[in-house]
Amino acid sequence: MQIFGVDIGGSGIKGAPVDLDKGDLTQERYKVLTPHPATPDGVADGVKEVVEHFGWTGPVGLTFPGVVTGGATIRTAANVDKSWIDKDAGALFRDRLGGLPVTVVNDADAAGVAEMHFGAGQGRKGTVILLTFGTGIGSALFVNGILVPNTELGHLELNGHDAEKKASSKAKEDGELTWEHWANRVQKYLAHVEMLFSPELFIIGGGVSRKADKFLHFIEDIKAEIVPAQLQNNAGIVGAAMHAAGDD
Ligand code: BGC
Repeated sequence: MQIFGVDIGGSGIKGAPVDLDKGDLTQERYKVLTPHPATPDGVADGVKEVVEHFGWTGPVGLTFPGVVTGGATIRTAANVDKSWIDKDAGALFRDRLGGLPVTVVNDADAAGVAEMHFGAGQGRKGTVILLTFGTGIGSALFVNGILVPNTELGHLELNGHDAEKKASSKAKEDGELTWEHWANRVQKYLAHVEMLFSPELFIIGGGVSRKADKFLHFIEDIKAEIVPAQLQNNAGIVGAAMHAAGDD
């Protein structure tokens, strides 16, 4: 079965049809830049462009970079326009896509579900935490393969700061940090998350998962196993489609 997946991020809106049996994209993904400010209308236009690029007319699963409750209502908007808060994103996207059936899920939860089924978390029991390092830090917490949604561990306070402001990959870019300097911050962050949850496995996702060889060796003194995500930047798209199919 195929469902269309769209991953809405702080920098890009990416989408492609997903083969749910393989957990893979069936065509090369298409990306448009996230508008700034990332208002509901602007983002919905971007989503429409991505879906129409493929002439898609079936169900669409979308991710959102904030808390999503009650099916598709947005509750937080750390890295997008604040007018998203309390918006029914399901109704917005459905209208903009001419009535196609849509679902909405937190971006890190989507990536986590995809990694647990098809990637680095396959068959892993116990407590597993996927963290995505991008514009913000997203988290997905699993206990024996079951997701605890909307955990928002990227906003833990670390040395008096919102952790994602110091340890996201945007923080690395904005501060022009070396890999080692940034990895030291990630290390402190992981130690804090480990103190709270004692997971058996950390999966490191987001764009940096492709560059694991540049920083993972700087991370020490963490008892949990640490591995890069395997689906890399497609995890959100695949997870969005899985959510639409009810496979998560
Ligand atoms: C948001 C999370 C999101 C993460 C990654 C954070 O700022 O609060 O909901 O998963 O960024 O996009």
